[in-house]
Amino acid sequence: MDPREEIRNRIDFKSVVERYVPLKPAGKGRWKGLCPFHNEKTPSFHVDEHKGMFYCFGCKAGGDVFKFIQLIEGVDFREALEKLAQEAGVELPERGRARRPSKDLIEVNRLALAYFREHLEGPVLAYLQGRGLADETIERFALGYAPKRWDGLVNYLKRHDVPLQLALAAGVLAEREGRVYDRLRGRVVFPIRDPMGRVVAFTGRALEEDDAPKYLNTPESDVFQKNRLLFGYPEARKSIRERKRAVVVEGLFDVLALVQMGWSETVAVLGSALSLEQARLLERAEAEKLYLAFDADEAGRKATLAGLDVGVARRFLTYAVLLPEGRDPGDLLVQPEGKAAFARALDEALPEVEYRFLAAAEDVDLRTPEGKRTVLERLLPRLTDAEPFDPVAEALKAVIVDRLGLDPRALEDLIQSQRRRKRPVVERAQIEALGGGEGDRLLLLELDVIAQLLAVEPSQLADWVRYVEDHTWPPEGSFLAEFLRACEEEGYRPRRILDRFAGRGEGGRLFERLMLAGSDHPAEHKELLDKSLARLREAYLRKKRARLAAELKQNPERALELLGEIQEIDHAIEAERRLYRAGNGGG
Ligand code: UTP
Ligand code: MN
Repeated sequence: MDPREEIRNRIDFKSVVERYVPLKPAGKGRWKGLCPFHNEKTPSFHVDEHKGMFYCFGCKAGGDVFKFIQLIEGVDFREALEKLAQEAGVELPERGRARRPSKDLIEVNRLALAYFREHLEGPVLAYLQGRGLADETIERFALGYAPKRWDGLVNYLKRHDVPLQLALAAGVLAEREGRVYDRLRGRVVFPIRDPMGRVVAFTGRALEEDDAPKYLNTPESDVFQKNRLLFGYPEARKSIRERKRAVVVEGLFDVLALVQMGWSETVAVLGSALSLEQARLLERAEAEKLYLAFDADEAGRKATLAGLDVGVARRFLTYAVLLPEGRDPGDLLVQPEGKAAFARALDEALPEVEYRFLAAAEDVDLRTPEGKRTVLERLLPRLTDAEPFDPVAEALKAVIVDRLGLDPRALEDLIQSQRRRKRPVVERAQIEALGGGEGDRLLLLELDVIAQLLAVEPSQLADWVRYVEDHTWPPEGSFLAEFLRACEEEGYRPRRILDRFAGRGEGGRLFERLMLAGSDHPAEHKELLDKSLARLREAYLRKKRARLAAELKQNPERALELLGEIQEIDHAIEAERRLYRAGNGGG
């Protein structure tokens, strides 16, 4: 039997609908309720139990159980099918076509890996050994070598009947003016694995000083997004789970060295700051503590701070591991007492709070009032943005009180007054009365984000709410802040959340936006949401900018400081604009 037919037979349509819409009897086998797809006060949404169909006389939405799930969960047909199949216990035939390409890319990578490994010998092997790597480590991470020629891999893949087009898509080959050639040449090759352990990319380290870039990655593809995976993660996962912590470094060699010295819970971010997706991986491996051990140079320290700055830090107890100058984790293998040095650095790692304070107090004389003010100014943002029970903020306050010799009450007052300043100048009631203008635009942008949140699958709402919290900073008193809180308080159940807002000014608009936010392309959900978030952040920034501009008028003596801040905001605004313009030619 057609699986669709089978699912329809096995699933009780009315009870599916009732999870989202309270229904009242409306004749034999028929039910009605308030339409979930448009805003109405009298029910025009009808369900025919026997036909397994719904129809709304108001907005004309209608269809079967698949259509209903598509509309109400904002998913495409395939996703609705999969969800309902699972619920009904119906086996679906392999997806076939749609899943093939990534499988093929991974197969190409598997072959390429074999080729690279075959060629790891002689002087290259000696180079790795010279950097202190043991054979076991080389084996564990399946290191290889890409010979210095243009067609080595090309010929190898041809011999294995791999269509060159596929190898180009995988990125192991490149093409110029119709000529196909090996992308990595004369480089030590590191396979990069996704969380499931599949080789999704390669990076090649140059062997000669003047061969730039030092590291060359195969390009991002359907299966490889640099910011979404961690080098060494599949190998480290077990240790992370056992030790309840992860050591996070920047470089590939850092991972190899630390793992070889016994810190098998080490992963690398491949040169960027720790992203939310990467933090999720660590969370899934049940890491409770993160030790950020970035390079001991200036850039490395900045990265440590950036790593801490991401909203992810609050999911873990985070520590900054500070190595003495000249002691990169990757070089410790060949340094005398290297292992002991890292063990000590781990022991002495600074908790996030301590690190934040020290970073803020760097090159500042804490004995002078001027110095104290500087430190306070640098740390206040972390305090005013705090959630009600934010342990980091609380601990940070204690450190500030202690080190700056402040009166705790005075500090609280200061934080409160800063918070008050952040509150929107125009109250919500006023916004509605205005019916337009900047405040209204802000509210609409917030509603846009909310509509998208409500379009995700309810079981994922909690995750998406967290995502929004991590990517924007709704000011206290804003509608979005209230909505996010309501999500939590209502246990992430969309109906209950909506009920709470029904009948209010914004509630009506919310439904309006919800209707407009039809999700024909759920695959683009994240992309759309990211753009909406960028727009919203821009709006928040503009608001802050306006406040600073007003302050500037009143306090010309603080001009330099305020202008500096305004300029920073302008940069931030530009960055947001680039984000939401990316890829769609404006918007
Ligand atoms: P590093 O320059 O610190 O390299 O870059 P490393 O890992 O310490 O390597 P060695 O010890 O000099 O051999 C850190 C990471 O940044 C990325 C790589 O992932 C690298 O491991 N990177 C660096 C690039 O992607 N491209 C580059 O050109 C340089
Ligand atoms: Mn390094």
